[in-house]
Amino acid sequence: MKNTLLIACAGLALSLPARADSLPLPADAPPSFKAECGGCHLPFPPALLTAPDWKRVMARLDRHYGDNASLDETTRREIEGFLVRHAATRSRLSGAGDPPRLTRTEWFLREHRKVPDGIWRDARVKSASNCAACHTRAEAGSFREREIVLPGAGKRERD
Ligand code: HEC
Ligand code: HEC
Repeated sequence: MKNTLLIACAGLALSLPARADSLPLPADAPPSFKAECGGCHLPFPPALLTAPDWKRVMARLDRHYGDNASLDETTRREIEGFLVRHAATRSRLSGAGDPPRLTRTEWFLREHRKVPDGIWRDARVKSASNCAACHTRAEAGSFREREIVLPGAGKRERD
């Protein structure tokens, strides 16, 4: 049992920072990342998706989940380079969808398995990609359990 736990933790550490509840913006993020990828939603943590997935996202910015997020080629390449540098390396962080979604990786679904179905559909959440609806300090890259507030359910009970 102890061994299983250690192996599980080591596996996560390979693809994510030591603490999965802290995903700050990497220091070498080009200003364009926040400016261009943080306007419509959170500038998502690069470590939550693999490099091939980020390339797929960045290759189809004109067809971006129903939106158009096209960029000039210089900026597009700068952001793609940054995302790929900090991308996850484990297949558990590989996302389903076209373009792939970080909210549909094995890792994300497992971390969020205890969220009751109805909450995802709550008008205040609307979509799993709306991280800040529950993670009150998501903008600061902090996803700690005690900072989670589930809309409609109030502060999360510690268990
Ligand atoms: C014009 C608005 C807009 C811009 C700019 C934009 N996005 Fe998005 N993005 C969206 C929308 C809309 C969705 C779909 C949200 C949903 O379905 O919950 C989305 C979804 C995503 C997802 C999938 C989230 C999930 O559900 O897992 C990723 C990854 C993503 N965007 C990355 C980026 C990156 C990287 C950039 C910068 C190059 C960017 N976005 C710029 C509008 C935008
Ligand atoms: C509907 C509310 C909700 C939304 C939306 C949501 N989460 Fe979560 N998240 C949770 C809950 C609840 C947990 C599990 C906390 C626990 O049981 O430890 C969690 C866990 C996590 C963890 C693990 C924290 C740890 O302690 O290791 C991370 C990282 C995370 N979420 C990131 C995200 C990101 C990034 C997004 C947006 C793409 C997102 N979440 C969207 C509710 C949400």
